Amino acid sequence: MKPRVYVTRNLPQAALDILAAHCEVALNRRDVILTKAQLIQKIRGAQGLVCLLVDPINEAVLASSPVLRIVSNVAVGYNNIDVEAATRRKVLVTNTPGVLDNTTADFAFTLLLATARRVVEGDAYLRAGKWREWGLMLFTGHDVYGKTLGICGLGRIGRAVARRARGFDMRLLYTDAVRADEVTERDLGVTFVDKQTLLRESDFVTLHVPLFPETHHYVSTPEFRLMKRTAILINASRGPVVDEQALVKALRGGLIAGAGLDVFEREPKVERGLLGLKQVTIVPHIASASIATRTKMATMAAENCVAGLAGRRPPNLVNPEALG
Ligand code: DGY
Repeated sequence: MKPRVYVTRNLPQAALDILAAHCEVALNRRDVILTKAQLIQKIRGAQGLVCLLVDPINEAVLASSPVLRIVSNVAVGYNNIDVEAATRRKVLVTNTPGVLDNTTADFAFTLLLATARRVVEGDAYLRAGKWREWGLMLFTGHDVYGKTLGICGLGRIGRAVARRARGFDMRLLYTDAVRADEVTERDLGVTFVDKQTLLRESDFVTLHVPLFPETHHYVSTPEFRLMKRTAILINASRGPVVDEQALVKALRGGLIAGAGLDVFEREPKVERGLLGLKQVTIVPHIASASIATRTKMATMAAENCVAGLAGRRPPNLVNPEALG
């Protein structure tokens, strides 16, 4: 008998085909997030769960299907899953690393450029019919080339951002819990500094740290106070890494010049104060949203799920302790 898998949202057909070839698949076809109660009810009897980063997979959800063997997240981040609880239950947890690095780095750079060069403001101005004539100082912004970029978190995405920044002749600083090896630093042209130095010296600060208790509000008022008044903050990691209320105050008070944000503390809610600030570029968590990448993420998640249910070690296992 094929194992039963529940999929919390519709996925690209290629991913559903992989699952259907090996499993009996039940799917939430409506394009809405399931409530916790619905999730609990839907996954009863499922051995596999394929879910998205908006699905909170906590103890109660895990407990609702005692036969559950694998939770396969269609995302590289997995802060929506209580991994400890899953491990205690010997439930495997998987994610989709690697495939979205370049797409996400492209987008972090898009946010950087768009914010520095006021692309969204200019677009809105033109569409509103306000453009009457060419102006010498109309929408003048900040140069990007030759400036200093501070990368917080030199993981796969941070490195991909560094490679893009080299094309803009930027000076590259980075900080991380663990320093990269000499060859990586040389190849990327990055210099390791502590967080304070990075904040003080960077014209642009881009965040690529995962969300852990230690990185919650990694950037808040003390950090804004260290930054240049002309600095721009970019966040394409996780919303709670930035203290959103402190960010609004910092922008209003001129502690920093702007921000480009893909992620927010309480998605899909956005701190109201941000909405009225022209110096902020805000988009709805789409940094990895190219058709090819999102499709690949979904097929990877399906492959992880199938491997786990077949008794093989899934390629992107987050909690190997659950195997033992
Ligand atoms: C992830 O994968 O964690 C992103 O935030 C969504 O692609």
